[in-house]
Amino acid sequence: MTRRTRLSVLASGSGSNLQALLEACAPPEFPGKVVLVVSDVPTARALDRARAAGVAAEVLEPRAFPDRGAFDAALAGLLQARGVEAVCLAGFMRLLGPRFLSAFPHRVLNVHPALLPAFPGLHAARQALAAGVKLTGCTVHLVDEGVDTGPIVAQAAVPVLEGDDEARLQARIQAEEHRIYPEAVRALCEGRLRVDGRSVAVAPPAG
Ligand code: GRF
Repeated sequence: MTRRTRLSVLASGSGSNLQALLEACAPPEFPGKVVLVVSDVPTARALDRARAAGVAAEVLEPRAFPDRGAFDAALAGLLQARGVEAVCLAGFMRLLGPRFLSAFPHRVLNVHPALLPAFPGLHAARQALAAGVKLTGCTVHLVDEGVDTGPIVAQAAVPVLEGDDEARLQARIQAEEHRIYPEAVRALCEGRLRVDGRSVAVAPPAG
């Protein structure tokens, strides 16, 4: 059996992407395994989803730390103590700085509900509706210190339909997130990502 990459998922909210990752990782043949879920919000539903799946869930509250760097260092230390090898942000509403990212170089992924570099930041579906675009979507990218600026790993397009409101558009985008995020995580775990500056090549699966 191939060795499974030890993953941590960081989530601040509902955790539907966490759920998709937990389900993808459930079969023992998946090359990654979620060993720890961490939230900065004690009431996050993501924590319940983790516990229901039998995965360790921890809360790390930013207010317990003097500054962002101290929080980042504590978070990195917690993950390293559990042998975490790669990290998935899933609705994690905090920016991570060098003290965290340097612990996991090219090993932190995020999912964003727009076709980056369009509509970074909050309320991406709302931004897409306001801009009147006909096509939006979602992006999985490697995390750097910017807001949704890291090298792009995977994208899926979602049409904006007549009469869409934010909730309907967001729901269709999320369905695509739940599809492409586990695939990107699989590629990372299988060592199929080659990063060259801003460009990420994803090699096809073996066999
Ligand atoms: C997702 O839409 C993701 O793109 C963004 O935050 C949202 C989290 O949703 N980064 P959920 O908590 O996974 O349901």
